[in-house]
Amino acid sequence: MMIGNTLAFDDAGSGAAVVLLHGYPFDRSMWREQVDFLSTTGNRVVAPDLRGFGESVAQTSACESSETNHRLKSVPLTTMADMARDVAALMDELKIDQAAICGLSMGGYIAFEFVHLFPTRARALVLAGTRAPADNEQERQTRLQQVKQMLAKGMSGIAEASLSKLLAPRTLAEKPEVVARLREMILRADPQGASAAQRGMAARSDYSDDLAVINVPTLVVVGCQDPIRPVADAEFMHDRIRESNLEIIEDAAHMTNMEQPIVFNQALLEFLESIH
Ligand code: MLT
Repeated sequence: MMIGNTLAFDDAGSGAAVVLLHGYPFDRSMWREQVDFLSTTGNRVVAPDLRGFGESVAQTSACESSETNHRLKSVPLTTMADMARDVAALMDELKIDQAAICGLSMGGYIAFEFVHLFPTRARALVLAGTRAPADNEQERQTRLQQVKQMLAKGMSGIAEASLSKLLAPRTLAEKPEVVARLREMILRADPQGASAAQRGMAARSDYSDDLAVINVPTLVVVGCQDPIRPVADAEFMHDRIRESNLEIIEDAAHMTNMEQPIVFNQALLEFLESIH
């Protein structure tokens, strides 16, 4: 579905709203099992394609005014705040005042921006495979290298290089349908939209100081074998967010919700029911 000039999204079920924010360079289809499950267990689930991804590709050109880096002048930049404002605008259109905001990885950075910008609109947070600190200089440079690679050669190199980090060894060996689904998701990402978000992640704020002021129930989720955002990143958030629980998922790396959907869904449902 798409309303006006905003994002493409799924909107299923009825009840208290849950907004699912995908990671990079994915799209809302990564949440398929969560949309199906939560919408049949008493929740209204909204999953957008974030700006520049999935069916929201055309949105990338709308943010060229965010440009600050003259070296990459022709490439738009989508900040985490741009995406958080898009989510709030979508909630406005859907007449959702407050929601549980659930983000995986880049979706988690956007969740941090969302609570920062709209503190009264998040009734709960789910932070999966993400982290609070900003990038260091080396990580920023790696992102800018990836932008050049994507724009010159497309997504295939990135898909092949990242699958073994995104998925746990057991998923790679035993769940070929998950591997294929994730590979296809990365391959169909728009290099321009992905580059804009990659530049936005490089420029993102350090959210560490925000953790102590988060005052809504929070579930921190991490894959036991995630080399991208390891368990230590999750513990860092859990230690500092007052009202938080930590769920460590076995046999999963970065894509916990796709690798272990039953465990992920159960943890999410129990958390949502505990805060009603
Ligand atoms: C993601 O899955 O969204 C990315 O790994 C986030 C990042 O590159 O920091």
